Amino acid sequence: MSTELEEIAQELRRHLAWQESDGTRVILKNPAPPAPAAAPVAPSAPVSAQAPVAAQAPARDDGPPAKTLDQVRQELGDCKRCKLCNGRTQIVYGVGNPRAELVFVGEGPGADEDAQGVPFVGKAGQLLTKMIEAMQFKRDDVYICNVVKCRPPNNRNPEADEIEACEPFLKAQLAAIRPKVIVALGKFAAQTLLRDATPITRLRGQWREYQGIPLMPTFHPAYLLRSPEEKGKAWSDLQEVMKRFGLATPKKA
Ligand code: URA
Repeated sequence: MSTELEEIAQELRRHLAWQESDGTRVILKNPAPPAPAAAPVAPSAPVSAQAPVAAQAPARDDGPPAKTLDQVRQELGDCKRCKLCNGRTQIVYGVGNPRAELVFVGEGPGADEDAQGVPFVGKAGQLLTKMIEAMQFKRDDVYICNVVKCRPPNNRNPEADEIEACEPFLKAQLAAIRPKVIVALGKFAAQTLLRDATPITRLRGQWREYQGIPLMPTFHPAYLLRSPEEKGKAWSDLQEVMKRFGLATPKKA
């Protein structure tokens, strides 16, 4: 098989891996056409002329210089700013590349994350990893964090006061990284970052901006585990993100 065909086949396999991860079978009618000029570019490589993502998001010059991720973590300390501190095992700050071009923001840690101190390591996390790989990124290349850094009891939704207490730290993380693109996973991430109470079913799939950074809202992986028939919509949202990076996107039925 030619290198180009092998790359396309690999891309389809990655895509199928997460589409089928709940037994959902996807029929691919049109295999990905060859990338227009060359093979898909690596995420860190400069993007093609058609790709709207041109450069690392510029630092904003309307405030003091951004803190580093480590400084933000130090400032968070042994946080007791909200009641979630009472039930947590540990703070789940964030994981990944501090210079990531792509950041995923979820809702809050679950039991596995609370136990390990790392976001998205449970079942939803495994699906997120497949989604990232289907997008031709590696989990280590991106950065992953949550709106709230401590596990809500019994995995309940985070409450307004908890989100408010944690939001400065999420903002500071994003200011430290200045990614090219943010993917907001689910209602809490999208609504918090966009300050928009529109339901995720309407927010998803539409490019928005957070502090000058393109932001794509999509469904949360935990929701996709419960509603695998919605994976196609999430995949189409993620393909929009891939296009921003100049990455070739496989077509599906
Ligand atoms: N769900 C989230 O929103 N975040 C995690 O870290 C795990 C599950």
